[in-house]
Amino acid sequence: MIRQPIVSVLGHVDHGKTSILDRIRGSAVVQKEAGGITQHIGATEISIEVLRKICGTSLDKKGIALTIPGLLFIDTPGHEAFTTLRKRGGALADIAVLVLDVNEGIMPQTTESISILKHTKTPFIIAANKIDLVDSWSPNENAQFHETFSSQEESVQARLDDKIYTLIGNLATEGFNSERFDRVLDFTKQISIVPVSAKTGEGIQDLLILLAGLAQKFLGDKLEVSESAKATVLEMKKEKGIGTTIDAILYDGKLSVGDDLLLYTSEGVITTKIKSLLKPELLVELKSTKRFKPIKEAYAASGVKLLAPGIDNVVAGSPLRKITKDTQIDKLKEEVSSEMESVKIETEDIGVILKADTLGALEALISMFQHAEIKIRRADIGMVSKTDISEAEIVKKQDIFLGVVFSFNTQISPDAELKARDLNIRLFKGDIVYRLLEEYVEWKEKEYDIQKKLKLSEITRPGIVKLLPGYVFRQSNPAVVGVDVVEGLVKPRAFLMDSTGERIGTIKEVQVENKPVQEVKKGQRAALSILGPTVGRQINEGDELYIDVPKEQIETLKNLKNLLTESEIVALDIIQKIKNTIN
Ligand code: GTP
Ligand code: MG
Repeated sequence: MIRQPIVSVLGHVDHGKTSILDRIRGSAVVQKEAGGITQHIGATEISIEVLRKICGTSLDKKGIALTIPGLLFIDTPGHEAFTTLRKRGGALADIAVLVLDVNEGIMPQTTESISILKHTKTPFIIAANKIDLVDSWSPNENAQFHETFSSQEESVQARLDDKIYTLIGNLATEGFNSERFDRVLDFTKQISIVPVSAKTGEGIQDLLILLAGLAQKFLGDKLEVSESAKATVLEMKKEKGIGTTIDAILYDGKLSVGDDLLLYTSEGVITTKIKSLLKPELLVELKSTKRFKPIKEAYAASGVKLLAPGIDNVVAGSPLRKITKDTQIDKLKEEVSSEMESVKIETEDIGVILKADTLGALEALISMFQHAEIKIRRADIGMVSKTDISEAEIVKKQDIFLGVVFSFNTQISPDAELKARDLNIRLFKGDIVYRLLEEYVEWKEKEYDIQKKLKLSEITRPGIVKLLPGYVFRQSNPAVVGVDVVEGLVKPRAFLMDSTGERIGTIKEVQVENKPVQEVKKGQRAALSILGPTVGRQINEGDELYIDVPKEQIETLKNLKNLLTESEIVALDIIQKIKNTIN
């Protein structure tokens, strides 16, 4: 008995991975995706019947007899945040399809996908997608490549060929020998490039026939099913009304309800028993939450959802094994542990709290936040609870920018929502990972400015005034004099000093046109009442006086420079120079 080959679809964001699968399934998954991007690993079985239906008579014409029972497609996210999911998808694959937009060519996550495939030594073919966007292309719905290609004008053919040659050249620099699939002489040495369009269906038959053909020819005994069930955990989710579930790809053997399992959790290896098994309906993605039917048994290769006690801390990407009478548990435990690379994250006491519905999304969030050098206090899956808010509050006391909670696709318990409002804890919610970070960065910038302004209002502002000759209204106690503000800002309660740095008094009140005001700026004229000096002794008409900014505040002001006016900065420099001469 042989199983379906597992075909992982990898490539740069928006190059059309999900659309190609939609075309094959006759579904419209892309249209329902938040932000138009894939954020979870998907798995869809394409049965031999569906393959036959799509490929029609081409199979017979090419003399290909299908021996595989179908294909199991794994869809992966192309957005840069999801490196772990791409690796996981790549590691599962028997064979892969690297999707790229023929008009854009090789992009960063194309290169990343190639290195994943190199690392796992997975054979792959290339789907050069979006050929319908080549200038003046005339589409032929669902046609085979050679049919539609030969129906194009010569100039259009040349345009596509140019793009393919560029691609072949670029792949050569990555160390790969590639060729358009119909010109390939040796499939073991050359990588086939299949020009396709997910939009029009052109070339999709060729892609499937090639995949099936290569799988049958080269995968051979890799597809033979053994007695022992082997699976990889794709995702762990907390689902409403069901509890914790695992999505897994069964790649060898058979799983049944009641089977004993060995699983890898963050607390080490555990054993448990399958309570129920669920399978997505025909041609429906494993990751979609609703359309499932309960089953008694699942056979490789397939995507299954399973429920079992004690699986709360199962690690995504970890192996799942069936325990039978003959199993040497200790040996299996060792085997499973050694397969796991550790997936620990560095956490700090003072950091943000991340919550997500699935581990894959959580990992993407973690990697994005680490990349942005934002400290993480805790990251886990499940709904946002009151505890999360309380922890954020503790953090907020130390760092107002880190006392926040992020919720990706998770629910927020009503009391948590209330508490967040009461304590003024910022909750970022959303269903697109990179937007969460963008929103946070925006909020932080705004908040930063608000905080700075607050700080600034508590600080002495730099200013310089000149006493106007003939405007002495009172000699002393307080002295009342008319001044021009030469630079900066002058406010009541500030200390004044003279040009030698000697403190001469405090501004009691600032008046403009006989009314008290809170501040006057460069270019304004005002009357100052000054406690301390006597005109004619410590101060004289025509003198320049300076706001005596305390030394430690000078440093703070320098850090807040972008909130000061140019004139304040000039005044600050002069004031600092005077103060430096006295020490
Ligand atoms: P991620 O999963 O986020 O990495 O993206 P993806 O590779 O799955 O791409 P997706 O299928 O979501 O397609 C991205 C956009 O390209 C969508 O707007 C599609 O409608 C469009 N698109 C995909 N394939 C084709 C194609 O062959 N021709 C044209 N014209 N548009 C396409
Ligand atoms: Mg996608």
